[in-house]
Amino acid sequence: MAVQRVVVIGAGTMGAGIAQTAAGGGCDVVLIDVTADAVERGIGGIRSALDRRVDRGKMDAADRDALLGRIEGRTAIEGLGDVQLAIEAIVEDLGVKRKVFGQLEATCSTDAVLATNTSSLRVSDIAGGVADAGRVVGMHFFNPAPVMPLVEVIAGRESSDRALNLVTEAARAWGKVPVRASDTPGFIVNRVARGFYLEALRMLGEGVAGVDKIDAAMKTLGTFRMGPFELMDLVGLDVNYAVSCSVYEQSGEPARLQPHDIQRDLVEKGHLGRKSGRGFYSYDGPSPTVDVRGDERGISLGGELSDAVNRFAECAALCESDVLAAATEIDRYIFSRTLVAIMNEAGLALGDGVATGADIDTAMQRGTNYPKGPLAWAKSAGHERLASLLRFLNESVTDGRFAPCDKGSTGF
Ligand SMILES: NC(=O)c1ccc[n+]([C@@H]2O[C@H](COP(=O)([O-])OP(=O)(O)OC[C@H]3O[C@@H](n4cnc5c(N)ncnc54)[C@H](O)[C@@H]3O)[C@@H](O)[C@H]2O)c1
Repeated sequence: MAVQRVVVIGAGTMGAGIAQTAAGGGCDVVLIDVTADAVERGIGGIRSALDRRVDRGKMDAADRDALLGRIEGRTAIEGLGDVQLAIEAIVEDLGVKRKVFGQLEATCSTDAVLATNTSSLRVSDIAGGVADAGRVVGMHFFNPAPVMPLVEVIAGRESSDRALNLVTEAARAWGKVPVRASDTPGFIVNRVARGFYLEALRMLGEGVAGVDKIDAAMKTLGTFRMGPFELMDLVGLDVNYAVSCSVYEQSGEPARLQPHDIQRDLVEKGHLGRKSGRGFYSYDGPSPTVDVRGDERGISLGGELSDAVNRFAECAALCESDVLAAATEIDRYIFSRTLVAIMNEAGLALGDGVATGADIDTAMQRGTNYPKGPLAWAKSAGHERLASLLRFLNESVTDGRFAPCDKGSTGF
């Protein structure tokens, strides 16, 4: 059954973006929030985004008007009738979400699929508020929803194949790339990406290098579009820190996922990144300047760790060979240490049955713009080099967080 009529609950950052995406895909959309102001803000944001596209010549004014004409704003979850799909994107609070799912169940047609855009709650827990839990699934979009291609489709304990297939097909019809993930902490992207941020924060805290140097190493050697500190500033330190805490706590608090105090302290000071004008960088001037200075003592690597870093970096770096040759040992260490943490987490997620290897790689490329999927990247860099570097790194720390993932599931 093709989806023609959709309800989106919550007209905030994600709900408005999802409504725009669905209406852009030709669906009629009812966009609901608690107050008329919130609904108008959401629709106003969509209108401004579309106006910019028209101004840049990327969209016809007639198409903009048609898209906006397909979105109807409302303030009550009632009288929704014949919808095929409801997508909830309200506050991240289990009690409030369960209540909304109860309201949706009471008003939507019985075969409507009820999806949640939750980032950190269990889909199965949200489904607990609905009589037929088979119709509840996760449909996890990325911010900004109209731009980011990935949608993680999450199977709760009781999600039916029909419900999973319906949201998968809807995502495809709206031009998105759906991947299937299990109902585990952080799903794919918010789990596998942790190493990118956390190892960067740890190296800053240890005085290995400063914010700008760590960002530069990841962009230069790894060809990441943004460095970890730039990306945290863009996403918002509060949002990123909340995800780190939630994934850590729900995963049984393993050392490798432990959130970092530097980030907590910045959040407490209200230095939230671009949106507050200050984060790891300051955004006062014409271009960002470093706002968090570490000790920058550097690091001297022992012979074996140094060899392992160089052997790994030679095969894993995606830059031109002259760029790699010009990189310092610290640059290679920053890049290699961060990347193996990501690859190892991807291997652990694969071993835990979070998703297929292909979907893990697709998710990291399409949900967070990694230049290469971490499992394919690990394979091309060489599992032997990766395993060897993980072992030497693990000897250099006291918390065992670089212990290589189970050989059986990934080969390293
Ligand atoms: N912001 C992100 O980057 C991001 C990415 C993926 C998923 N998510 C998830 O999406 C959801 C929404 O996040 P957001 O960033 O859009 O939040 P937001 O604060 O921007 O928007 C939430 C909206 O929901 C409305 N709302 C609250 N209770 C409601 C109710 N009972 N009925 C109708 N509307 C209600 C609020 O008024 C608000 O407008 C959360 O579950 C979050 O975890 C967020």
